[in-house]
Amino acid sequence: MRHLVVAAHPREGSFTLALARAHAAELEALGHQVVVQDLYRMGFDPVLTAAELMPPRSAGPGDSTITEAQEAIRAAEVLSVVYPLWWMSMPAILKGYVDRVFARGFAYEATGGVVRGLLSGRRCFVATVSGAPLSQLVASGRWQAAEMLHDIHIFRAAGFDVLEHLHFDEVVPDLSREVAEAHLSRLRASTRRHFGPGTTRAVHPET
Ligand SMILES: Cc1cc2nc3c(=O)[nH]c(=O)nc-3n(C[C@H](O)[C@H](O)[C@H](O)COP(=O)(O)O)c2cc1C
Repeated sequence: MRHLVVAAHPREGSFTLALARAHAAELEALGHQVVVQDLYRMGFDPVLTAAELMPPRSAGPGDSTITEAQEAIRAAEVLSVVYPLWWMSMPAILKGYVDRVFARGFAYEATGGVVRGLLSGRRCFVATVSGAPLSQLVASGRWQAAEMLHDIHIFRAAGFDVLEHLHFDEVVPDLSREVAEAHLSRLRASTRRHFGPGTTRAVHPET
C-alpha cells in the first residue's frame, strides 16, 4: 500500500518527529511504500497567495511545490499526519499546508455552500501530541472541539476515511525515555493494527 506521512515540528529531535519516524519505519517493515514529508525540513511555505484564490481559468501556472504536494496525496492510499497541538490547533506550517494543498478543485468542491470532498477512497491516520492531560482536555470540551475541527472539518470533509486519531498527552520537553518508548510502542501497535498482515482492503481512489 502507498503511504504519505506528513509531519510538522520545528525540532528534529522532537517527540513528534520520533513518532512520525517510528510510524514510517513500522509501515516499511510491514512492506508498505512510504513517502515522508517533513514540512519544516522541506521549508514549506504556508502562506496562501492571492493568485491561488483566482478561479482556475484565470490563474497562471500553479506553484510547483503545491502541485507536487497534491500529486503526493493523489498517489497515496493513506495519508498520515503527525503534529503537536498548538493552541489546540495545528502548527501554522501545517495549517498553511492544508490551506494551500487541500485547495478547491483538488480536495473539495463547493456548490451552493455544500462542500463535497474529492479525496474519497483514501484513508487518513492522525497522530497528535499535547502538553495537557487528555482527561483535562476532554473535561473542558477542548478535545471534542479539536476532533471536530481537525478530523471532521478538515480530513473527513476532504473525503478521507479517518481511521484513527491517536493522541499522546502530557508530552513535555523532558519526557523520560521509558514514557517515550511506551508511547512509541503504542503507536507501532496502532500502525500494525491498521496496516499489518490481513488488514489490507482494496481502495479505489476516485480522483
Ligand atoms: C506554540 C505552542 C502552543 C501549544 N499549545 C498547546 C495547547 O493548546 N494544548 C496543549 O495541551 N499543549 C500545547 N502545547 C504543547 C505541545 O502540544 C507539546 O506537548 C509540546 O510541543 C511537546 O512536543 P514535542 O516533544 O514533540 O516538542 C503547545 C506548545 C507550543 C510550542
